[in-house]
Amino acid sequence: MRFSLFSSWLAVTAALVAAVPTFPHTQSTRDVESKYDYVIVGSGAGGGPLACRLAMAGYKTLLLEAGGDANGNVNVSVPGYQAVVTADPTLRWDIFVNHYKDQNRAKRDPKYVYEISSYQYHVGPNPPPGAKGLGILYPRGSMLGGSVNHNALIWIIPHKRDFDTIAILTGDDSWSASSMNKYLDKVYEWLPTMPTDPTILLRDLPLARHLVAGANAAGIDIPLLTPLAKLSQLLLLSPNSRVSPTRDATEGYFQVPLTMKFGTRTAVREFILSTVAAGHPLTVRTNTFVTKISFNTTGPKPRATGVEYMEGEYLYKASPLHRTNFGKKGSVQAKREVIIAGGTFNTPQLLKLSGIGPAPELQRFGIPVIKHLPGVGTNMMDRYEIPVNVKHEHDFSILDGCHFDLKPHDLCLKQWLENPYVLAARGAYASNGLASMMLKRSSFASTSDVDLSIFGGPLNFQGYFPGWHDFAVRDHKHFSWYSLKAHTRNRAGTVELRSSDPLDPPVINFNYFDTGTTEGGADKLDLGALVQAVRRSREALADYYKFPVLGGTSYTEEKPGPDVQSDEAIGQFIKDEAWGHHAACTCPIGPDSNPMAVLDSEFRVKGVDGLRVVDASIFPDIPGIFIQSAIFMASEKAADALIREARAADED
Ligand SMILES: Cc1cc2nc3c(=O)[nH]c(=O)nc-3n(C[C@H](O)[C@H](O)[C@H](O)COP(=O)(O)OP(=O)(O)OC[C@H]3O[C@@H](n4cnc5c(N)ncnc54)[C@H](O)[C@@H]3O)c2cc1C
Ligand SMILES: *[C@@H]1O[C@H](CO)[C@@H](O)[C@H](O)[C@H]1NC(C)=O
Ligand SMILES: *[C@@H]1O[C@H](CO)[C@@H](O)[C@H](O)[C@H]1NC(C)=O
Repeated sequence: MRFSLFSSWLAVTAALVAAVPTFPHTQSTRDVESKYDYVIVGSGAGGGPLACRLAMAGYKTLLLEAGGDANGNVNVSVPGYQAVVTADPTLRWDIFVNHYKDQNRAKRDPKYVYEISSYQYHVGPNPPPGAKGLGILYPRGSMLGGSVNHNALIWIIPHKRDFDTIAILTGDDSWSASSMNKYLDKVYEWLPTMPTDPTILLRDLPLARHLVAGANAAGIDIPLLTPLAKLSQLLLLSPNSRVSPTRDATEGYFQVPLTMKFGTRTAVREFILSTVAAGHPLTVRTNTFVTKISFNTTGPKPRATGVEYMEGEYLYKASPLHRTNFGKKGSVQAKREVIIAGGTFNTPQLLKLSGIGPAPELQRFGIPVIKHLPGVGTNMMDRYEIPVNVKHEHDFSILDGCHFDLKPHDLCLKQWLENPYVLAARGAYASNGLASMMLKRSSFASTSDVDLSIFGGPLNFQGYFPGWHDFAVRDHKHFSWYSLKAHTRNRAGTVELRSSDPLDPPVINFNYFDTGTTEGGADKLDLGALVQAVRRSREALADYYKFPVLGGTSYTEEKPGPDVQSDEAIGQFIKDEAWGHHAACTCPIGPDSNPMAVLDSEFRVKGVDGLRVVDASIFPDIPGIFIQSAIFMASEKAADALIREARAADED
């Protein structure tokens, strides 16, 4: 009985999803042999918008995506499932990375993962005998829409300096922030954003008490006896002002805009589907894993002519559903260009497998060198993130009935499903759980812009490991302030081939802190900023006690823990347990004078023709506070550049 009721909720979801155009599966087998103007590899933040724009301009475009389409999967559409979706085995790639090459040091992190047997993991110390050390889980989405379809939905636009520095570096003024502004307009043509409805939050007063305390700690005057009016005002403030000239340097307390439409995740996937539905010449082929870029090497410069691929589900060995190495092989040609958008790890891997990269590394794996480009897979940057987690005696009532498991007792899902059109009525699941944030400039910031964002929410978030999605919400008694250090200085990360097998995930080393970039004390400056973030988080937690008027119980700190007080102790905690999830910069744009630059300012891979990269790997420096906005804008810019070039060529 209850199950039939539940299936009717699922039917509602299906109907809801049907309201957006569905994926034309029949199209995926058509047109295989014919030539396309453009072939794009990867349908995420970089590849998706570009494919749409090229097709909208009339160019025959093929979008190849290794993953499937999560059509109708509530794991994707429900913002409150932002952690659950990263664990969905049909959508995820388990990538394991090293924060430190020295495995003894790496194992200081309680999130360190061992493999017990294929895709069975042990997390933390005391692994069973024979378990093999893997490293730290780095979640990636493999599906139509890429990692955008399983990210935390947070939408924060880049800082002006992120783009101005590319303009200065390359001498290409089209990258200046003022020129890039029009691409943000283009993004907003297809991307809806809205914050968590404040009325949802204000119904849980002890939760509001923490958020009020955060604002107080951020230096905002909050009346002790009537704090809620002020909090309501603050939750109206967007961090994405496009009119304030001082926005990038503005500290304070803000709402968190999310990439959703009335509480349903809506972003790149929906843009792709609506572009196809509108009849533009966009062909999407899911479950198609590209193994190699093809080149014509007879001319003076190698020219990318197409790609080779394998068809099949879960072919990449990072997929927990990987069963076979044999997909149906195929190839396709691009009349104009091939564009790689596989993301920070997969793009350098595919370039290297195809003969573009550091010659010694390629030779070690017997790969014929098409073009020696030593910078491919270097310069990797990420943010550092660190939490302060506390546990209360009471449950946060906002999570009453939220079980995060799609089962009939998940009343929060029921509420979300039954109220599709009114954000405030959808309840807790119309939020990613992180409804407000502090923006702060640490005294170790590299510029005058803010470099810390500190998010608060009723969950136990300590970073990523197998099962993190369950751990974070297992009880409803935890609250976390969690910090993200923007504009980090470490560029010592690398992505290297593990083997010449395209289905093997690469070897990924982040080389954190003192094992990475140390010039000018870079590692110590980043660490110093994070220590300040932890202290600020604790101030916010202490200020909770100033607002007893809102009710709620006392808490105890679990992480870093009451013993961790000195700068040194906090610093060690950060070095051991910090993580990141915005990996970028492995195929950096740069001037010809820099031999480590991989791309020119128009996304072209140096030294070859007909090949570009458009995804998180293109940036010389990690942009912004959150990264998808900068990638979307770069994708729109790439489309503009390609379309202008194609039109000019056609006129000749
Ligand atoms: C858990 C999590 C939460 C996040 N939260 C946020 C957030 O709240 N806000 C924010 O701004 N950013 C967030 N991010 C980061 C952001 O989503 C990513 O940085 C962004 O999606 C990267 O874009 P991309 O185009 O480089 O790669 P992706 O979006 O990962 O897309 C790459 C696609 O290429 C496909 N692909 C790769 N190799 C091949 C191949 N050989 N053949 C065919 N297809 C291939 C993959 O299957 C994938 O679909 C989050 C990331 C994660 C993992
Ligand atoms: C959603 O993800 C969970 C894992 O987090 C998985 O168990 C479940 O099967 C997924 N649901 C669907 C509909 O795919
Ligand atoms: C390869 O490039 C050469 C020279 O640019 C050209 O003449 C030839 O037709 C190309 N071959 C193919 C198969 O496209």
